[in-house]
Amino acid sequence: MIFSKFGNKFAKHSGISLLMKDLNEGLRTPGAIMLGGGNPAHIPEMDNYFQSLLTEMNQNGLLTDTLCNYDGPQGKDTMLQALAETLKAQLGWDISAKNIALSNGSQSAFFYLFNLLAGHFDDGIKRKVLFPLAPEYVGYADAGLDDDLFVANKPQIELLPDGQFKYHVDFNTLQVTDDIGVICVSRPTNPTGNVITDEEVHHLDKLAKQHNIPLLIDNAYGIPFPGIIFTEATPFWNENVILCMSLSKLGLPGTRCGIIIANEEIIEAVSNMNGIISLAPGGVGPALALEMLRRNDLMSLSKDVIGPFYKQRVEQVIDIIRRYLPEDKCLIHKPEGAIFLWLWFKDLPISSAELYRRLKQRGVLMVPGHFFFPGIEQDWPHAHQCMRMNYAPEPEIIEKGIVILAEEIELAFKKAN
Ligand SMILES: Cc1ncc(COP(=O)(O)O)c(C=O)c1O
Repeated sequence: MIFSKFGNKFAKHSGISLLMKDLNEGLRTPGAIMLGGGNPAHIPEMDNYFQSLLTEMNQNGLLTDTLCNYDGPQGKDTMLQALAETLKAQLGWDISAKNIALSNGSQSAFFYLFNLLAGHFDDGIKRKVLFPLAPEYVGYADAGLDDDLFVANKPQIELLPDGQFKYHVDFNTLQVTDDIGVICVSRPTNPTGNVITDEEVHHLDKLAKQHNIPLLIDNAYGIPFPGIIFTEATPFWNENVILCMSLSKLGLPGTRCGIIIANEEIIEAVSNMNGIISLAPGGVGPALALEMLRRNDLMSLSKDVIGPFYKQRVEQVIDIIRRYLPEDKCLIHKPEGAIFLWLWFKDLPISSAELYRRLKQRGVLMVPGHFFFPGIEQDWPHAHQCMRMNYAPEPEIIEKGIVILAEEIELAFKKAN
């Protein structure tokens, strides 16, 4: 069958579809040790909360009301209103419901936004998305209608005590050329767990304003919800910022609810795209979020339950890793947020892609690092020395995976000597 150019680009295997396939099979194959995809943890307190909230919404008719009606293309009005009021009251942002649109997962919002702000323009310029700090989220990599939509900047690497390191935006090498249409950064970052500092955010904001382009901040893991952040970081928004949020890492990935907070022109554009592509975003996630906002639970559960759960889990998992993998074999990016650990095998004689294959053969799924460098030339050795693991599964499962990882690392070194 002959596909269109669009078909050839979007129907082929991409990094993200391979990952989601692994995730689906890994989650459902008995015995598989799934440290791959980005599924959030099942936090018992949150699962119970959702169950009782859904039961209540089923009894009082709110669930059928949302299931049996379309919302408008901008998303559920009552939720937009309630969220705008809460953000205004709690964070002091000057926003109204006109500054928020919903999407079917934030993943689809990135597709809209990248292709709205980058690609071929009427002035003849082909504009690009700039990632100021690679590694960056694999889900961005194939989201451009045009090839070569992304450029990225290599990070500065700061070595820290205890076998840890941290990436920083390298402002000495970062160039915002005239063909950049938007600067995009995830904060906290998937895959590394990095949280770019307030100072870095302000610097990027200034650069974006100087070049008359928006700064897109992907806040899928951040504050005020779901609150998976373990370091000092101030929530940031202004009229030049597009802040993308999601209900997924709150524990509701199946609702496919993304939230875009931006100036009215961007929100109107997103809303119109929603109309064409999906008529309206799904209503179940927003209906749940609305009830959580009404009960003042959205931010408080994030702060008091979700954040502390992941903080404790990541500390436990680092202890497990260190029991089997010493610092000279494996460096770990300082875990400041998100649900991943980013492992750097500096001197490993095999590539992370080969390590991925060997681990997969033994039933352990992790993600090889090279997927996370969209916009960076593939011959940068560092891109092939890292692996991402999801630390959300139960520690007993993680330990089994780490034992196998340590064996494979040992074997690779032995074979090379
Ligand atoms: C950084 C980041 N942004 C966006 C997404 C997309 O999430 P969703 O489409 O479920 O909102 C993910 C999912 O893992 C992510 O890690």
